[in-house]
Amino acid sequence: MRITMIGSGYVGLVSGACLSDFGHDVTCVDKDAGKIDALRAGRMPIYEPGLDQLVATNVDAGRLSFTTDLAGAVAGADAVFIAVGTPSRHGDGHADLTYVYAAAEEIAAAVTGATVVVTKSTVPVGTGDRVEEIMRRLAPGHDVQVVSNPEFLREGAAIGDFKRPDRIVIGTDDERARAVMHEIYRPLYLNESPILFVGRRTSELTKYAANAFLATKITFINEIADLCEAVGADVQDVSRGIGLDNRIGRKFLHAGPGYGGSCFPKDTLALLKTAEDAASPMRIVEAVVQVNDTRKRAMGRKIIHALGPDHRGKTIALLGLTFKPNTDDMRDAPAIAIAQCLADEGITIRAYDPEGMEAARAMMPDLVYCRDAYEAAEGADAVVIVTEWDAFRALDIKRLGQIMATRTMVDLRNVYRRDAVEAAGFRYTAIGR
Ligand code: UDX
Repeated sequence: MRITMIGSGYVGLVSGACLSDFGHDVTCVDKDAGKIDALRAGRMPIYEPGLDQLVATNVDAGRLSFTTDLAGAVAGADAVFIAVGTPSRHGDGHADLTYVYAAAEEIAAAVTGATVVVTKSTVPVGTGDRVEEIMRRLAPGHDVQVVSNPEFLREGAAIGDFKRPDRIVIGTDDERARAVMHEIYRPLYLNESPILFVGRRTSELTKYAANAFLATKITFINEIADLCEAVGADVQDVSRGIGLDNRIGRKFLHAGPGYGGSCFPKDTLALLKTAEDAASPMRIVEAVVQVNDTRKRAMGRKIIHALGPDHRGKTIALLGLTFKPNTDDMRDAPAIAIAQCLADEGITIRAYDPEGMEAARAMMPDLVYCRDAYEAAEGADAVVIVTEWDAFRALDIKRLGQIMATRTMVDLRNVYRRDAVEAAGFRYTAIGR
């Protein structure tokens, strides 16, 4: 299959690299010439474990290439994937579809024969219909089908998620498009990953429903964690106790500082807009969004409380800034709201993150950025674990105790055992325990 990927961002690049690894001939397109030059030189625009090697292998094998020439890449392709961004529209939370429609128009102007246009970007219900209208209007003589095929990739684990998915969802009623999509994902049939062929609108909604459900699961356990603190119970045991019930499942039940990232915050908002437009409100998701927003600042207050009444002028070490480990992505990271809350109280922040420092510096220039966890902890009154990078899972607690001004640890990811930390003379605050 000849496949063209429009957009070489996170989703486009990972999907393109994985599809080429399946043996397809893939061209990744991007408007950003700097990004394409970097990719050609083997430099990845994002941090994702294993991606550089996967790209190098497939470029060397002649199955993967990069270009800014959209028209050239679209001509003759069996399938053209749209994997451009759909950020939250400023002010109203609707998904901004400008890039999707612009890509559709450029594709329509460039198609030369039978092509399947696949929306991989997360798009609200009905977007496929509009893309189809664009194709009918601007490429009337061509056999073009428009298919929805949402991604379910987690940052930091995206390659594994693409190659061994729990399921693949494909939205189309067209037989030829079905056959093309079947051929594209054929290697996954061998892995016995279920492929669900559904209607296009159903496929579009499935993506939002999945993310909103996961965001709900996290928010639910976060509120249970607060209740655990209030009544003297342990959220990790509650989580295990409910998660072992197969109907509930153990995943996404880790209490923490609230969800962040490029998907959950924006997709929950966009789902609410769709629900509002359809006069079919989703009150549960409304509550989830609200509870998660307030939680991030509540984490700041939790840290302040741990510092004690004379917290002004104190210093804390913030360990982990990205919204989760194994990514350099700072989008909607809880660390941002937490840092703001602490800065408002006159607290100095010494910060360290294994991959997110560059993005963090651009957003929060006033923090003191350090080379590692120990440098951040020097002279600090508390060390706060915001993101559970492996580098913070086995810190030398004794050493921390020697270099800190006051021995306090606030563990927002429940990485440590209370007894181990307290044995080193620390005061220990965790989540829901
Ligand atoms: C998510 C979805 O998992 C993925 O399927 C979708 O395509 C894109 O959005 P991602 O945003 O990369 O992926 O990260 P994910 O691992 O889902 O974590 C999202 C947020 O939830 C993070 O801030 C994480 O720290 C938080 N989280 C996750 C918890 O607080 N507790 C959990 O148990 C799981």
